[in-house]
Amino acid sequence: MRVSVQDIQAMKTRGERIPMVTAYDYTTAQMVDAAEIPLILVGDSLGMVVLGYGSTVPVTIGDILHHAKAVVRGTTRALVVGDLPFLTYTSPDQALQNAGRLLQEAGCQAVKLEGGAAVVPAVERLTAAGIPVMGHLGYTPQSENTIGRRVQGKSVDAARQLVQDALLLEQAGAFAVVLELIPAPLARAVTERLRIPTIGIGAGVGCDGQVQVIHDLLGLYTDYVPRHAKRYRNLGDEIRNAVAEYAAEVRAASFPTANHSSKMDEAALNEALAQLDR
Ligand code: KIV
Repeated sequence: MRVSVQDIQAMKTRGERIPMVTAYDYTTAQMVDAAEIPLILVGDSLGMVVLGYGSTVPVTIGDILHHAKAVVRGTTRALVVGDLPFLTYTSPDQALQNAGRLLQEAGCQAVKLEGGAAVVPAVERLTAAGIPVMGHLGYTPQSENTIGRRVQGKSVDAARQLVQDALLLEQAGAFAVVLELIPAPLARAVTERLRIPTIGIGAGVGCDGQVQVIHDLLGLYTDYVPRHAKRYRNLGDEIRNAVAEYAAEVRAASFPTANHSSKMDEAALNEALAQLDR
């Protein structure tokens, strides 16, 4: 049985921390699911770490659908959240159409969208239609061209606005809210004021859960390592070394060996070649 939004809520109620990571493909999703991660995000961060774009802005609903289908196929247990990309939820109707595709075509169990008061009508429409919504406040990457790439919520006005937005999302029916790149004391204050769980990224330890981009955890993405990310392994180096070793063995003709090859009856081969020569 998959984790449900009620299970996620119960984790907050019990004071149990909620780990969440991104996944974008079948194989990685299988490994994440086996690690008993309750929440998987098919994030639009795939624009950078999978597709090689400079930001999340070029990511389309088609991109998220394509990757979410693979992630859902690779999981049996985790609740899979599909990200609604830039400009796919500018009205409640548009949000419903695109979120509906993530549930119906990809098999996600929930969607995530960025923003506060401005997206409340969309959140209300989705939750009324039976689509669980995760909010996303603080640094919202889809708006980087207006807000810049920096910590949010530091001024009195911005901190007050952020708390108000979080409460509005909760009232609108969101089942959780991502808090990205905000000061730790502000994230703790939001977490204390909300009934629903907060999931932090660069928002300190006071959130109910944490989300990280899997490429950052595993050391796969070398172009840029955010300050809030911790590298648990350096698989990028492992992969580079493994591929270089393979290439060296191919060049030296030490791969493949007999163990990697199939045998054949010599007489049958000789007969086939003889027939060709006749
Ligand atoms: O797209 C993403 O991976 C995200 C997380 C960083 C929260 O939105």
